[in-house]
Amino acid sequence: MTSMSEEVKLECVSLSPVSMATDPEQGPLCIFGTGDLGRSLGQRLLQAGYKVVYGSRRPHSCGPLPAGTQAMSHEAAAKSANLVFICVHREHYDFLERLAPQLVGKVLVDVSNNLKKNIYPEANAEFLQRLVPGAHVVKAFNTLSAWALQNGPSDANRQVYLCGNSVVAKQAVEETATKLGFTVLDRGSLSAARELEDFPLQLFPEWRLPIRLAVGLTAAFFFYLVIRDIIFSYVEQGKDISFRIMVSLANKVFPIVSLILLSLCYLPGVIAAFLQLYRGTKYKRFPDWLDRWMLCRKQLGLLALALASLHVLYTLIIPIRYYVRFRIAAHTISQIKENKTSEFDTTMAWRTDSYYSMGILGYGLYVLLGLSSLPSVSNSLSWREFSFIQSKLGYLTLFFCTFHTYLYGWDKFLRLSAYKWYTPPAYMLSLVVPSVVLVLRLLLFLPCMDRSLIRIRQGWERTDPENDTKKSLLT
Ligand SMILES: Cc1cc2nc3c(=O)[nH]c(=O)nc-3n(C[C@H](O)[C@H](O)[C@H](O)COP(=O)(O)OP(=O)(O)OC[C@H]3O[C@@H](n4cnc5c(N)ncnc54)[C@H](O)[C@@H]3O)c2cc1C
Ligand SMILES: NC(=O)c1ccc[n+]([C@@H]2O[C@H](COP(=O)([O-])OP(=O)(O)OC[C@H]3O[C@@H](n4cnc5c(N)ncnc54)[C@H](OP(=O)(O)O)[C@@H]3O)[C@@H](O)[C@H]2O)c1
Ligand code: HEM
Repeated sequence: MTSMSEEVKLECVSLSPVSMATDPEQGPLCIFGTGDLGRSLGQRLLQAGYKVVYGSRRPHSCGPLPAGTQAMSHEAAAKSANLVFICVHREHYDFLERLAPQLVGKVLVDVSNNLKKNIYPEANAEFLQRLVPGAHVVKAFNTLSAWALQNGPSDANRQVYLCGNSVVAKQAVEETATKLGFTVLDRGSLSAARELEDFPLQLFPEWRLPIRLAVGLTAAFFFYLVIRDIIFSYVEQGKDISFRIMVSLANKVFPIVSLILLSLCYLPGVIAAFLQLYRGTKYKRFPDWLDRWMLCRKQLGLLALALASLHVLYTLIIPIRYYVRFRIAAHTISQIKENKTSEFDTTMAWRTDSYYSMGILGYGLYVLLGLSSLPSVSNSLSWREFSFIQSKLGYLTLFFCTFHTYLYGWDKFLRLSAYKWYTPPAYMLSLVVPSVVLVLRLLLFLPCMDRSLIRIRQGWERTDPENDTKKSLLT
């Protein structure tokens, strides 16, 4: 009871100085530490119209500071401001314990980060709050770099995350950040500090699984194709065609992996649908692996698009390749020499035009999916529109790309000579997952399945008659 009333009293006592803290007309803002971040922050605050004082261990020899700022001892600087940015590494926080009396009622902004996750038992900001219990600690600005602060908000760095236990203190920091041109995202109380401190340590976490998958599949198919195409040719025909690695093999591996990744974007949706049908409810959690898979579909899709784009670029250079031009010239000359002509093959014309056309349509839709996943575009779409593009047009993309590959294979599926060393061509292997996904999706279109799934997704639950009987016996 006493501590609660003390907390309220503290908040009331500090209300007026804290709210004045961010008014450039009022007293200065204080920065402890004259290092990289301290100087960049000071520069930006000055540009926004604030007065800035620095608290430093060596106020007279602390190196060049932004013109118009003043450096003084920590004690003097703390006294002159209500809001203090602690631009010092956590390892050096001990000196703040000594300053605790001067910091009572002040807002302390903890900007610190660590080099690794979980090296300390508590978050830096919570540690600071423990050292200076009379101050209001707010965690903020740690997700920005000194460079971003100096240059002002840029596209990649517009947001300032903050958290803290005092609403008034958070408001004061929020006002300052807004005046510096940043968008503020409040993450709640100081217990969220650890999460904010972990942000800058993350390196594309949601891309890790898709990248590993893409690299793994690329390596596996590359070796498969080297053995089937290059080594086979060398061993069985004595021909060295290793030069084909650069373009021909690349132009097989990239579209093959792209097609598999694309189908892997849609497979979890189908598995989820069958799971919901089996369980008769949508209220049971999916297994963790399915959850994680679903959460990285965007990254899987974008990687697939990048690989498909490489395939399109490689395809564009086919006519200017030396190997292709040589083969065409050699064929033409041999026909002239042998006085031969070849008949126009309408079936071949249909086949090639059809698979090119399917490829182009597939790629067009692929690009549309990619564009709609840009935040600026997806923000302007309703959930229904986004879902229509991603889900309905996404399946159409998968269909076109799969059909493109089937048409490319044409009658080779039935030709024994295509199965070198009894192994199928790589593109045939790449058709397995997309075909399974499309067939399962077709099954879900069956009225009996579709109706049940729609009802389940609208909240309907199938009751378990066995359980019901047991329940009624017990009661
Ligand atoms: C280039 C590219 C970019 C991509 N960008 C993105 C992206 O930005 N974001 C993204 O998420 N994916 C993205 N993807 C992946 C993929 O397109 C989407 O995840 C797509 O929505 C998957 O569709 P789905 O039909 O399999 O599954 P889902 O959309 O998960 O759902 C299947 C169906 O069930 C419905 N449904 C699902 N859950 C519920 C529920 N709880 N209640 C009621 N109805 C429900 C949906 O409306 C949908 O009709 C991208 C893919 C590619 C190739
Ligand atoms: N640099 C960035 O881009 C960046 C981005 C986000 C967050 N941060 C965080 O901001 C804080 C400062 O980073 P920085 O890059 O500015 O570091 P820095 O360049 O090393 O500066 C730290 C400053 O702390 C002061 N200091 C050093 N030892 C001290 C001690 N024993 N006691 C008291 N003060 C001491 C020094 O200032 P005086 O000599 O004036 O006392 C020094 O200039 C860190 O917590 C960091 O995690 C930095
Ligand atoms: C502009 C669009 C496209 C064009 C013009 C095109 C053209 C081609 C061509 C010419 C080939 C034969 C390559 C060769 O002989 O080595 C081919 C093969 C293939 N394409 Fe496409 N394509 C397009 C888009 C796509 C897309 C979007 C995908 C889906 C990922 C795709 C998947 C494949 C696959 C899997 C193969 C078989 C690779 C092999 O093993 O040879 N294509 N395509």
